[in-house]
Amino acid sequence: MNSKIIACFSQLFAADPLVVFAPGRINLIGEHTDYQEGFVFPAAVKQGIWAGITKNELGLCRLYSLDFDQEFSFELDSMSPKKGHWATYVMGICTLFKQAGYRIKEFDLVIGGNLPLGAGLSSSAALSVAVGLGISEAFDLHIPKKDLARYAQKAEQLFAGVNCGIMDPYSSVFGQEGKAMLLDCRSQSHDYLPVKLGEYKLVLVHSKVSHSLAASAYNQRRSACEESVSLLQTTYPELLSLRDLSLTDLPKVKYLLPAGLFPKAKHVISECSRVLEAAKALSRNDLVHLGQLLKASHQSLSQDFEVSCVELDFLAQEVIGMEGVLGARMMGGGFGGCLLGLVKESAWVSIQEKITAAYQKKYLLTPDFIEVAPGGGAQKI
Ligand code: GLA
Repeated sequence: MNSKIIACFSQLFAADPLVVFAPGRINLIGEHTDYQEGFVFPAAVKQGIWAGITKNELGLCRLYSLDFDQEFSFELDSMSPKKGHWATYVMGICTLFKQAGYRIKEFDLVIGGNLPLGAGLSSSAALSVAVGLGISEAFDLHIPKKDLARYAQKAEQLFAGVNCGIMDPYSSVFGQEGKAMLLDCRSQSHDYLPVKLGEYKLVLVHSKVSHSLAASAYNQRRSACEESVSLLQTTYPELLSLRDLSLTDLPKVKYLLPAGLFPKAKHVISECSRVLEAAKALSRNDLVHLGQLLKASHQSLSQDFEVSCVELDFLAQEVIGMEGVLGARMMGGGFGGCLLGLVKESAWVSIQEKITAAYQKKYLLTPDFIEVAPGGGAQKI
């Protein structure tokens, strides 16, 4: 991809660009906990977005997306980011950098990647991080890594309309080869844990569905959690987020919250505890327990938090019942995208055949299978 970016850049802009890479991410466990200051356990993957960039003196930023085969240009003084367009993330990052007082000028940019869109591997966070890092490098801004993640999060919130947490851009910025990150979203700090799976491996089954209401449903779930926090603050005045509660608080929480809100709060509280358990299980190489936690996470996301969908539930049920599978769960925001599985390498080929047959029969859809392994974070190439 690096050489493709360089070739395209020289053809379009007759220049040799500086190239940066920002990866997508998987999440072992810890879903819908980041925006409640909870724990998550993501890893960057080897797939991601590459961006080639040079400054220009034309009074115009000129962009080209290899994936969409589209050009776009805008003036830095009159940008109008529109939802749903890839260039929105570029204009969003420029707007945020300018607001923060960074001196940026016009540039040429070519972007391209190998992340499957709509699979839940955070292609938009990778795009924002790549653009942010590229601009930072091209204009010698030396933007600190955590700020880069926060700008990328803000770009998604303000310009894509998803009130997301910090997990995706943070993972893209801080990923490390062979490691997952136990990330505390309150302190925004992490510990690296080696992902050693022996004869097992992590796999993704892409459901090929992406439900159109995903962004608004995501924002509603976040609001439901915030509503629970304000209701609970009358009894727990020191409570800042659901992360402050533990499993032993659940009976009291159940009594204090309306029936519609309690299951959502329960998911966040129990998921935070599963993340910490999963980190311990991985450290002591207890993959069986890790698999059980993945299954429990899916159950909770589907039944309590209600962010799964029939296709993902079907895939989870099928995969979990197969020989050689220790656990599986929906990954990411939900309402489509991928299932993450912990499967025995030797069983993987036959598992794929069985899932394909069952899914085609039930939904007339053919799933994609994506191999993933923890990779390094965003960097200049
Ligand atoms: C999306 C968001 C993240 C996180 C996950 C769910 O990927 O961007 O911030 O909330 O959903 O865990």
